Amino acid sequence: MEIVVSGIRPTGNLHLGNYFGALKSFVKMQEENQCYFFIADYHSLTTHPIPADLHGNVKTVLVEFLACGLDPEKATLYIQSDLPETAELYLLLNMNAYIGELERCTSFKEKIRTQTDNVNAGLLTYPTLMAADIIIHRAARVPVGKDQEQHLEMTRTFANRFNRLYKVNYFPEPVAYNFGENLVKIPGLDGNLKMSKSDNENSAIYLADSAEVIRKKVMRAVTDSGPADQNKPRSQGVQNLFDLMSYFSSGETLNFFEDVYAAGSIRYGDMKKQLAEDIIRFTLPFREKMEALAADETYLRKVAKMGAEKARESASKTVREVREIIGFRQF
Ligand code: ADP
Ligand code: TRP
Repeated sequence: MEIVVSGIRPTGNLHLGNYFGALKSFVKMQEENQCYFFIADYHSLTTHPIPADLHGNVKTVLVEFLACGLDPEKATLYIQSDLPETAELYLLLNMNAYIGELERCTSFKEKIRTQTDNVNAGLLTYPTLMAADIIIHRAARVPVGKDQEQHLEMTRTFANRFNRLYKVNYFPEPVAYNFGENLVKIPGLDGNLKMSKSDNENSAIYLADSAEVIRKKVMRAVTDSGPADQNKPRSQGVQNLFDLMSYFSSGETLNFFEDVYAAGSIRYGDMKKQLAEDIIRFTLPFREKMEALAADETYLRKVAKMGAEKARESASKTVREVREIIGFRQF
């Protein structure tokens, strides 16, 4: 039983890769650990979202998480901005975070290049806000992908520095949660090894996609001119279709298409039609749950309120103790 924290930026819908690569593990984790999962809406302000969109973006993530099986009775599911204690801890941590180390952070350097019109202080201090998110619950584990490893390393630096500076052993050093060796990687429809939301709008299939959209995307998936030469390796696009079938279709279906491929008589159109129907069958229950949840404002309000209350219990205790350690006293 460990304390686990993870934050998700409210930037669009979940695709099949997100589900198999992250959400399924979250759902398992909530059974065995004390989990805090939150929607990182403070973080999303670093890119200046339109005010009219912010709430809807948060709602989308909340609805999709619930539809995927995150249970607000088991995990603490909350919205970052419902926890102002995070903002206070962020302020306090910033006093001991050095400009040099923040400027050297890879994600900041990347933003300087790509977001030239808006290099704000929030981008620079993104790692201290993320550290605050994590250590506010004194978490031991953080389930994040490789791209977040440096932020986690900085979290450890800030936590250790606090301990050293105030001669306490207060914050634990959080480490990445190991999803295990056999982490699945869902391939893309564009011939890439990994399904991803990219500039190619047909690469990823979202849990929220309608049957029509799924058919259209799968029918446009990248293939090749056919198995003319059995000795040549399959193109990545075709291999991806077979791999997707291994996730979403029955063993019989997969074997059937392997056989016709081996016989040289495969028609990719037929294979795609079958794959599309199998993916639709898989995603339909998620979409139905999402639609029901999205229409149930009363329930969503209840979930958010309950999450905020549970999260504040843990966070207000930490901030109270941190203030004491730093030397704030009440008159
Ligand atoms: P994207 O690449 O579409 O922007 P994110 O980087 O937001 O996706 O990923 C969020 C989570 O989903 C991460 O934990 C990541 O490892 C997981 N994930 C994303 N794409 C895939 C995929 N194709 N297969 C498995 N896991 C994935
Ligand atoms: N930076 C993370 C991302 O881009 C999101 C995030 C914010 C986060 N705070 C966090 C992840 C705390 C884990 C723990 O994906």
